[in-house]
Amino acid sequence: MKIMLHTDIYGGQGLSTICIGRGLLRHIGQFAARTVKGRKAVVVSDSNVGNLHLEPVLASLRESGFSAESVCVPAGEDSKSLQMLSVLWNTFHGYGITRTDLVVALGGGVVGDLTGFAAATWLRGVRVIQVPTSLLAFVDSSIGGKTGIDLPFGKNLAGAFYQPRWVIGDPDVLRTLPEAEFVQGMAEVVKYGCIFDKAFFEDLEKAAAEGPLSDSFVEQMIAKSAGWKVDVVNRDEREGGVRTLLNFGHTLGHAAEKVLGYGYVPHGVAVGVGMVAAAKLSEKLGHAQVGLAERIAALLKALKLPTSMDEIGNGLFTAETLFEAMLSDKKKLGADLHFVLLHGIGEGFVAPLKPEFVRDLLPEILSV
Ligand code: GLY
Repeated sequence: MKIMLHTDIYGGQGLSTICIGRGLLRHIGQFAARTVKGRKAVVVSDSNVGNLHLEPVLASLRESGFSAESVCVPAGEDSKSLQMLSVLWNTFHGYGITRTDLVVALGGGVVGDLTGFAAATWLRGVRVIQVPTSLLAFVDSSIGGKTGIDLPFGKNLAGAFYQPRWVIGDPDVLRTLPEAEFVQGMAEVVKYGCIFDKAFFEDLEKAAAEGPLSDSFVEQMIAKSAGWKVDVVNRDEREGGVRTLLNFGHTLGHAAEKVLGYGYVPHGVAVGVGMVAAAKLSEKLGHAQVGLAERIAALLKALKLPTSMDEIGNGLFTAETLFEAMLSDKKKLGADLHFVLLHGIGEGFVAPLKPEFVRDLLPEILSV
C-alpha cells in the first residue's frame, strides 16, 4: 500500500480526510472502524461497479467487524433521481441503519452524489465514506461534500453540502475503467490547469503529446487535482467565493447536457466543450489573448475529447435552446449569469454577465 495523498478538509460539519493510494480498497474497513461507532454498513454501488469492486469492500468491512450489506442502483445519470433516493432510504430502513452506522458510496459521480445525499438526509445525517471508482470522482465529485439529485427541471437542484468522513481512492480501480469514462474525467483534470495552475496545464500538454499517459503520471495527476480540490474546499466550503471557479466550463456544459437530455453526453465531455466556449468568450470580451481557446481545445483533442458544441450536439441544439437552458441553471444569480472566465491559462475569475449580452455572443463562441 502506497499513500500518494493524505490530507484533510476542515468542514463546517467536521473533518473529512482524503486518502489516495494503491491497494486502499482492501483496507476500507480499517478506516471505517477508526471513526464509526456503529457496526452496520451499507455499500451503495451501481450495476457496472458492483461486479468489479464490491466484494473486496464488503470483505474488508466484515473483517473489521461490520455487518455489511450492499445495494446496487442502475448505472447512469438517470439514477440521480428522487426514485433512487427513496430506494436508498428504504434500504437503510430495511437494514436498520442508525445514526451511528455507516454508508459507503462505491462508484463514480452519480453513485457518490446520490448516496451522499441519501446519507445526509437519513436520520438527519449518517456517516458516509466516498470510494471513487471513476477518474471524475477521484479528482472532483467525491471530494468536498456536494451531494444531490437531478430534478426534471435541472441538474443537482435538490441536494446538500455534506462532507464524507473519508474519501478513500485506490487508483488500481481505474484499470477496469472504460476508456470513454477515463477520457471524460480528463476534462475535470484540465479544468484545474485552466483555472489555477499553468505549470500543471503544461505538464498535461507535454504528457498528452508523448502518447498514452503512464500509470505514474496518472497517479501524480490525480494527487495534484485532488489536492487542488481540497485546497479550494478548505478556503470556501459553501461556494461563496473561490469554489465558484470550479464551475469553469459548467455553465454552457450543463446547458448542453440539459438540452440533449441528461446522460446523452458524459458530463466531462460537456464540461470540456463548455471550457473551450468560456475561453472563447474570455477572448471576445478582451480578458484573454486570442489563441487561449485554441490552446485548451488542442489539449482536449490530444486527450480525445470533443471541443465544440457541433461535435456533441448532433444537430440537436441551437444557440437559442442552449441559452434558454443556461438561464434555468441554478448558478445564475439575480439578473446576471455568473460565468467563470480566464485571463490566461491558470488565471480563472468570475464575471457577472448580462444574459442578453451572452446570448448575442453565443453563435460566435460555440464553435472553435
Ligand atoms: N464540482 C464542483 C464543486 O465541487 O464545487
